[in-house]
Amino acid sequence: MSIKPVLRMGDSRLLDVSREVAEFGTSELKALVQDMHDTMAALDGAGLAAPQIGVSLQVVIFGVKRNPRYPDAEEVPYTVLVNPVITPLTQEMESGWEGCLSVPGLRGVVPRYSRVRYTGKDQHGETIDRSVEGFHARVVQHECDHLLGILYPMRMTDFRTFGFTDVLFPDGAPMDE
Ligand code: NI
Repeated sequence: MSIKPVLRMGDSRLLDVSREVAEFGTSELKALVQDMHDTMAALDGAGLAAPQIGVSLQVVIFGVKRNPRYPDAEEVPYTVLVNPVITPLTQEMESGWEGCLSVPGLRGVVPRYSRVRYTGKDQHGETIDRSVEGFHARVVQHECDHLLGILYPMRMTDFRTFGFTDVLFPDGAPMDE
């Protein structure tokens, strides 16, 4: 188990475009996924992308369990997604709050496609192909943006919604991605 430091906005490595994973079932990939899992769990995040721990590979993880603190948060199955491709299933955008472990202490409203299909592989090379909506769709778009060097503030359209978490949500905030 290894909790890695998470790069913060301003670090140019977060702006890099990540490389595809070429080989599955390797000890390197297994160790990377384990580190990402441990880091996300330690920070209570909803998702994490490999570049956030300084690894420029197309690997993201995400997942949200039922949490009494966030009764309205939709459950998202724990997923390891490698070499993802996202296809919007609608042109309709939905606005929602986002946070990011690389942008600590802040939240903002981000428009995202309300329904997307995502395909890719898991860490063993098995195909993943899902059509999702709502919070699940938001989380996967946020994580995969990290692989393109895009942080959520770069997707914001209304900066009046950008602010410090404890000011915006004095009673507790939605989770970080
Ligand atoms: Ni993020």
